[in-house]
Amino acid sequence: MTHLEIRKKFLDFFSAKGGPATGGKHVIVPSSSLVPDDPSVLLTTAGMQQFKPYFTGDADPIKDFDSKNTISIQKSFRTSDIDEVGDETHLTFFEMLGNFSFGGYFKKDAITWAHEFITKELELEIDYITVFGGADRAGEKISYDEESEKVWRSLGISDIHVMGLEDNFWGPTGNEGPCGPTTEIYAGGTEIWNIVFNEFYCKPDGSLENLKTPGVDTGMGLERLLAVLQKKNNIFETDLFVPLMAKMSKDLPIRVRRIIADHVRATVFLLSDGVRPSNKETGYILRRLIRRSATHAERYRFAPDFLEELAKTVMEIFESVYPELKKNRNEILNELRRELEKFSRTLKGGLRALDVMVKKKKGISGKEAFDLYQSYGLPPDVLGDVLKEKSLSFDPKEFEAEFKKHQNKSKEGQEKKFGGHGLILDTGELKAETLEEVKKVTRLHTATHLLQAALRKIFGPEVRQMGSDITARRLRFDFTFGHKLTIDELKKVEDLVNDVIAKDLSVIMEEMDYRKAKEQGALSFFKLKYPKRVKVYSVEEESGVFSRELCGGPHVKKTGEIEKFIITKEESVASGVRRIRATVEP
Ligand code: SER
Repeated sequence: MTHLEIRKKFLDFFSAKGGPATGGKHVIVPSSSLVPDDPSVLLTTAGMQQFKPYFTGDADPIKDFDSKNTISIQKSFRTSDIDEVGDETHLTFFEMLGNFSFGGYFKKDAITWAHEFITKELELEIDYITVFGGADRAGEKISYDEESEKVWRSLGISDIHVMGLEDNFWGPTGNEGPCGPTTEIYAGGTEIWNIVFNEFYCKPDGSLENLKTPGVDTGMGLERLLAVLQKKNNIFETDLFVPLMAKMSKDLPIRVRRIIADHVRATVFLLSDGVRPSNKETGYILRRLIRRSATHAERYRFAPDFLEELAKTVMEIFESVYPELKKNRNEILNELRRELEKFSRTLKGGLRALDVMVKKKKGISGKEAFDLYQSYGLPPDVLGDVLKEKSLSFDPKEFEAEFKKHQNKSKEGQEKKFGGHGLILDTGELKAETLEEVKKVTRLHTATHLLQAALRKIFGPEVRQMGSDITARRLRFDFTFGHKLTIDELKKVEDLVNDVIAKDLSVIMEEMDYRKAKEQGALSFFKLKYPKRVKVYSVEEESGVFSRELCGGPHVKKTGEIEKFIITKEESVASGVRRIRATVEP
């Protein structure tokens, strides 16, 4: 059974399950982006992520899906497993098959269908299953999941392992969210399916609240399932990986081949979902993946375009499943090439410096590791890989501490730059020293919203904010974009903003739940974390919404107050990220 066949089988099977008594048929929902709407996490780590508001009651599944039950095959990414990559089962990027219920069905149906799918559809034998045995958690007693155990026994499964909190209680990856006991299915010697019964809402302090409508959240790792079905020893021998592994000589250490295969897959999907290499957050994760693969490629003397070729193979494997890969193909390859070129300037020097350090001593300190990163861009994972081969290591905590120290230093530097002047407004984005300046930055701020809206209206929703900085003299807006904007394109953007200014439209502020704001299509800035209640600023034309953003303000009341918007400069800031400087007059 190929990966394409198993995808189809899963979707077909669950599409036919469920009816009026259980809240409706399962509706197929496409994978959401790896960059989630949920501000509590950096990347999508599980299928349930996009459905969180349905579990908590913040959104209505009937309204959105016409059913209480959904299924998806979700692109997922887990940084927590990055050090394990190279063994037989761990990946950073992976896909998860999942069925979900938001108050439709519960334990009996979820377990019965899972059992039927595994034993009848896939004709696999279940080794054993696990259930939650109850525990004390943050002073609260959570009871033994006898109900699940009973259902399993009624299906003829008797090898049942009773487990504790660590293994069989699923909690949110952010600090709060739906959670509850799990039951796990083992087949072919590995865990293949995790079925979570979301009975509680986990609060930031660790305490639990009963959810009004308990839900079902299941996750089955596609790669592991394939390894079992295709009777392979590990995930890298399945049809999802064979075309990639075949491109690397068997003489290379197997761990290195697996790391490269995993990282290139992850790189392609992160780039496709709009992440760009940088030194912060998701950008930093992506940079590390690319640089780690590049370092191995260099050490083992692969051809210069090897990683690009591998990226093309990834796209071939997945193109029928994720059509966006085809659409984003050139941009993905260009971005990858740019980051590789940038890194190639320091890579060789970095490896030499590392060699010298290692030879002289018996290992390197976390601070030295950080210096290698600072001077040559060698990421910590690479250092770990190289040192490991020589049975050496460095302290990653010390590295992290240095990294943080450095970030704080640059922040302090910035605060000093502005600190002496006695700012009366400083939102991080806007800075003003006098009331006069407050008025000016407020006009520039609304102009920034109009600018983003205009860019997206003209070039499409691929345009995403990457940064914004406003002083009394100018605005500066960074965004994802593949090429240098032409004079004509800039003119079009400037004209559109000035049109909206001329219409003198109202700028309306509303406070609402974060989820509701996202439902209304309000733009958020992925680098920011938002509270549950947010402010949304909108500018509406007769024909519909022109601009809608989550924002703390301040803004003008009417667009006419901006008067005249002028673009002064367009430049590149980083690969795939452009910067527009603009001002308002008078
Ligand atoms: N959320 C659970 C997991 O990630 C089940 O989908 O394992």
